[in-house]
Amino acid sequence: MSVHFVGAGPGAPDLLTLRGRDIIAACPVCLYAGSLVPEAVLEHCPDGARIVNTAPLSLDQIMAVIADAHDKGQDVARLHSGDLSVYSAMGEQLRRLREMGIPYTVTPGVPAFAAAAAALGTELTLPGLAQSVVLTRTPGRASAMPEGETLANFAATGATLCIHLSIHNLERTVADLTPAYGAGCPVAVVWRATWPEQRIVRGTLGDIGGLVAGSMERTALILVGPALAGEGFEESCLYAVDYDRRFRPQSADSVYAGSKE
Ligand SMILES: C[S@@+](CC[C@H](N)C(=O)[O-])C[C@H]1O[C@@H](n2cnc3c(N)ncnc32)[C@H](O)[C@@H]1O
Repeated sequence: MSVHFVGAGPGAPDLLTLRGRDIIAACPVCLYAGSLVPEAVLEHCPDGARIVNTAPLSLDQIMAVIADAHDKGQDVARLHSGDLSVYSAMGEQLRRLREMGIPYTVTPGVPAFAAAAAALGTELTLPGLAQSVVLTRTPGRASAMPEGETLANFAATGATLCIHLSIHNLERTVADLTPAYGAGCPVAVVWRATWPEQRIVRGTLGDIGGLVAGSMERTALILVGPALAGEGFEESCLYAVDYDRRFRPQSADSVYAGSKE
């Protein structure tokens, strides 16, 4: 018996991985994280599966459901939205499972930041503008931020920021970022990326507050940084005609000439 953690993706049911789908189909017990995991993903559960929405449960209650399945020798599919590596609360469940001696696997999913970038038709790392992406959030009732992980500190790097769990905090977010990025810095807010009701608002730090104007709540991602403009960047060297590289040696003298790899 194992607990299989599966990243269920950002919302569109066909953004579940094939591996995730097959795991769900093979598990007689499925635990899923409330409203962010689309109901259509649960249709992969086998007939008669025990399907439990964990939104109203405490960690102790979730672990009790898993312990019960363990006693019965039943595999469990544990679904969280997006990918499991960020803001999934998987870490605390894994720690309990290790204490309980219950084996587990982890299958990645499409994270919200990648879905939002796709919805925007944008690359978050553009040569000369930004080569780093910061996945972050603002403090919430349930989660304080570790000292040093402030928006102002991240903004000082000039990276592209993908700010989760913070649409209710947009005014404060703008105030914290404007000194480093400037009021003209591009911002995009993507609400419910890949869901049928997906909405995108583009603006700048100077006007995004007025453009969103409280019209979005909860499941939205705020993306900020010069790369969001999608212009004013250099082409990468990788495909430049005169760039000497392993797969395209430029002369017989190239260190890559004759390379078989
Ligand atoms: C609890 S976190 C889950 C993040 C998830 N594990 C991931 O990999 O993206 C929920 C937050 O992720 C963002 N989010 C999740 N799904 C989203 C979507 N479809 N569109 C926009 N933002 C989304 C929002 O900022 C939301 O408040």
